[in-house]
Amino acid sequence: MENLTYTTESQRQQHYIEEMKLWVNEQSRKMGRPLTCKIVTFGCQMNAKDSEKLLGILEQMGYVETEDETADFVLFNTCTVRENANLKVYGHLGHLKKIKQKNPNMLIGLCGCMMQEKLVVKKIQESYRFVDIIFGTHNIFKLAEIMKRRVDSDSMIVDIWEDTDQIVEDLPSERKFSFKSGVNIMYGCNNFCSYCIVPYVRGRERSRNPKDIIREIEKLAAEGVVEVMLLGQNVNSYGKGLEEPMTFAQLLREIEKIEGIERIRFMTPHPKDLSDELIDVLAQSKKVCNHVHLPVQSGSSRILKKMNRHYTKEQYLALVEKIRAKVPDVSFTTDIIVGFPGETEEDFLETVDVVKKVNYDSCYTFIYSKRTGTPAAAMEDQVPEDVIKDRFQRLLKVVGEASKDNVDRYVGRTMDVLVETPNDHDETMVTGRLTNNVLVHFKGSQDLIGTIVPVVLKEAKGFYYIGEMAQEA
Ligand code: SAH
Ligand code: SF4
Ligand code: F3S
Repeated sequence: MENLTYTTESQRQQHYIEEMKLWVNEQSRKMGRPLTCKIVTFGCQMNAKDSEKLLGILEQMGYVETEDETADFVLFNTCTVRENANLKVYGHLGHLKKIKQKNPNMLIGLCGCMMQEKLVVKKIQESYRFVDIIFGTHNIFKLAEIMKRRVDSDSMIVDIWEDTDQIVEDLPSERKFSFKSGVNIMYGCNNFCSYCIVPYVRGRERSRNPKDIIREIEKLAAEGVVEVMLLGQNVNSYGKGLEEPMTFAQLLREIEKIEGIERIRFMTPHPKDLSDELIDVLAQSKKVCNHVHLPVQSGSSRILKKMNRHYTKEQYLALVEKIRAKVPDVSFTTDIIVGFPGETEEDFLETVDVVKKVNYDSCYTFIYSKRTGTPAAAMEDQVPEDVIKDRFQRLLKVVGEASKDNVDRYVGRTMDVLVETPNDHDETMVTGRLTNNVLVHFKGSQDLIGTIVPVVLKEAKGFYYIGEMAQEA
């Protein structure tokens, strides 16, 4: 791995971007049209954010983004958290092979979490020879350099780092929304929950320098961004390895001071170390949204122990109560895994009990997926598929009922909505979010997108509201 300081590395990459620009220019002159690119993103918000950075680099090279997988450069930013995320990529690749046969100048790239698995890369090198470049999660900033090597050599370029302690700042990035943006505050994960592959593919935990984070958010605010989503696998451990350690709550207080930023969200806090200091910030801050995504994974203390989560059912429920007591109106959402090895009917009922007690606004439910290399994959008593499916269906029902009742609670109130998109079904309407992340659809013009407006919540429809813009006094 090269050992360069941050600024030198981003300057070095700028040089490759310039070189690729000449190449892209030359190609598009020959073809008589601009070169197009398409990034297909799988997985979580980390990947979504990485894709914005990758697109930023491609646009600087002169590529024009298109929605079409027949683009001149197609890049798959992959996820491997569950097996089906992983399988989808092979399906897409089979399809791309045919497209590339028709357009031999096409370049195909693979990056993201799946590429950090040696067996995956071996399989692609053996069976998917038409892929042009492969890189991993630690060196996305090298995109231009890797592409340059590919166009100069005419053979597949594979550049994967096992881990890194490097954080490269100041590279271009292209935002998907003009008014909101994800902001990485840390990378990697040290928790090693026993089912999870993320620590193996994203490397060790490292926090970005608070000055760099603040500078980025100030710049976003100057560009019109009103909402930031702070991203990390466990934001509660933000700041630990820094020269001048800082807590996540302290970071939030700093971000709160930035003018122009109206809403601050974060993802994901681990229940094991959500501090009182953070609860105080949630209670006091006008900008930090009153929504906590608090993954429980299971309601059974016995399973939680096997998952290496470091909390019990009782501790989790007590935490929820403590937050509710200080932050009235707070919304909770969660992640749940069904069918972890050794999960009995009783364990499952404990999970159902948590769902009923907490009253989540919504739950992301997953069927346990065995990930090679994780401790859980080697555990005996894997739960049979039919048992898991049955539990999963039962859980979905409970979750649906619980969140439906819960979302009703604001009917009749007037609340601030950040308008995000035109409505999918009715062009006279727009769609936005409450601070607790629940969606609201209401009549209004597209000009409202990106602004925060008061809306009367007229009707609850299960997971969302139909509203009406409030008449300003
Ligand atoms: N860092 C976050 C989660 C990242 S992964 C946290 O700790 O909450 C997102 C979700 O995927 C996890 O919360 C978990 O519910 C789910 N997940 C992770 N590994 C899984 C596996 N092997 N099988 C099924 N779901 C899994
Ligand atoms: Fe995976 Fe656990 Fe880390 Fe979340 S905290 S990324 S679930 S190991
Ligand atoms: Fe998937 Fe990687 Fe995110 S495995 S869930 S894209 S960190």
